[in-house]
Amino acid sequence: MTRVLLLGSGAREHAIARALCHSGASVSCFASNLNPGIMALAAGFELGELDAPQAVVDFATRHRAELAVIGPEAPLAAGVADALRAAGIATVGPGRELARIETSKAFARDLLVRHGIPGCPRYRTFDALEGVADWLAELGDGYVVKYDGLAGGKGVKVAGDHLHSHAEALDYCRELAASGGRFVVEEKLIGEEFSLMSFCDGETLRHMPAVQDHKRALEGDCGPNTGGMGSYSDTSHSLAFLDDEDICTAHAINEAAAAALHTECGAPYRGFLYGGFIATSDGPKLIEYNARLGDPEALNVLEILQSDFLPICEGMATGTLGDCEVAFRPEATVCKYVVPEGYGVQPRRDCRLVIDEERLAASGASLFYAAVNQPPGGTLETTSSRAVAVVGSGATLAAAEAQCEAGLTGVSGRGLHVRHDIATPPLLAQRVAHMRQLRGSRVVPTVGA
Ligand code: AMP
Ligand code: GLY
Repeated sequence: MTRVLLLGSGAREHAIARALCHSGASVSCFASNLNPGIMALAAGFELGELDAPQAVVDFATRHRAELAVIGPEAPLAAGVADALRAAGIATVGPGRELARIETSKAFARDLLVRHGIPGCPRYRTFDALEGVADWLAELGDGYVVKYDGLAGGKGVKVAGDHLHSHAEALDYCRELAASGGRFVVEEKLIGEEFSLMSFCDGETLRHMPAVQDHKRALEGDCGPNTGGMGSYSDTSHSLAFLDDEDICTAHAINEAAAAALHTECGAPYRGFLYGGFIATSDGPKLIEYNARLGDPEALNVLEILQSDFLPICEGMATGTLGDCEVAFRPEATVCKYVVPEGYGVQPRRDCRLVIDEERLAASGASLFYAAVNQPPGGTLETTSSRAVAVVGSGATLAAAEAQCEAGLTGVSGRGLHVRHDIATPPLLAQRVAHMRQLRGSRVVPTVGA
């Protein structure tokens, strides 16, 4: 049995653990919370500082790990992948330099421009207020201000959503400059967002089905931005508002970005490469890159991964992905997160959750534990972040959505919130109509096609 170190303990890591165990791995998890789903699967489980390289290497050594899979971004930013490789452990996850594709917005934008990769909005990078007002004047009403580093999704402010005038934009820039931060001011792109993730060994990429996440906390895409309230993927592995050309463009951008990273950093990018795209009237553009699997997107794609996940991870870590079979079942998936009320602003904490295993099993849906704690023999309690995710799959999006909703009836507790509108026909139709309106006469497939 291959012994694998898994770093992280959210729902994404629960899904990774399940997929690794299904393909015969023995998983030991270095965790930040008592995730009962991972604890039930893992041969070893310990709480610790995920972004402390030496602590992770010590854990990996104690568990004689032959392979490491890094879930979240913080350890990548801290150089944990470099430390694991230096200790002789094959690792899925880029080193600190390569992870700058996620940890520095300016680096990601500059990389695309330097290598002539399409899909980049107009942008400029600043570390002081000088020149910002002129650049905002050039951009007009459509601008976005982004803190250059990791900010847990809170560093981005978009005109019309969070900023309502150039004066407000300048105030935010002043705040960033005063805190010593670099920031990017870029063109606001209008369209529909989608995630296109690829397995990557530095040379070869294998692409995953496209997924659409829902970042806003409340139904109808209202409320504050969150880590993601739920997501869906379709049987075609594309999305109803995209055409074949959009998917090909996104694949090509990921491939070019991986090659550019290799050239610039002098090392192969071995891990998951997550392109956050937006389909616009002018084709797909890149919103951001992440150096890891998306959460919740990982739950969608791993649910329908037909091939064994362990050899894919070994292929990424050792530069042999080209030898691996990577296939996904032609099924639709729908994921909805159960979160504490107020998540995204002022979440309730320590709500008690009850899972009705029988109901859940009868629904056929999968459940993944996220930022919850359940000591052995104790009760299941939320923290201030996402609690559990329910994933349905099926031969159509409607069947997957119905299965997800049936699974959700097996989760109860007070003070919880779910976006039930995700992947329902009205919201799907709205996405298609929005894209059709933006593209004018360009034909897009109908929902469910
Ligand atoms: P990021 O952290 O870069 O993913 O940004 C968070 C969210 O801000 C994205 O999911 C988008 O909804 C929005 N966003 C970021 N950049 C842009 C842009 N250039 N145009 C429009 N929306 C953006
Ligand atoms: N789904 C958004 C993220 O993983 O960053």
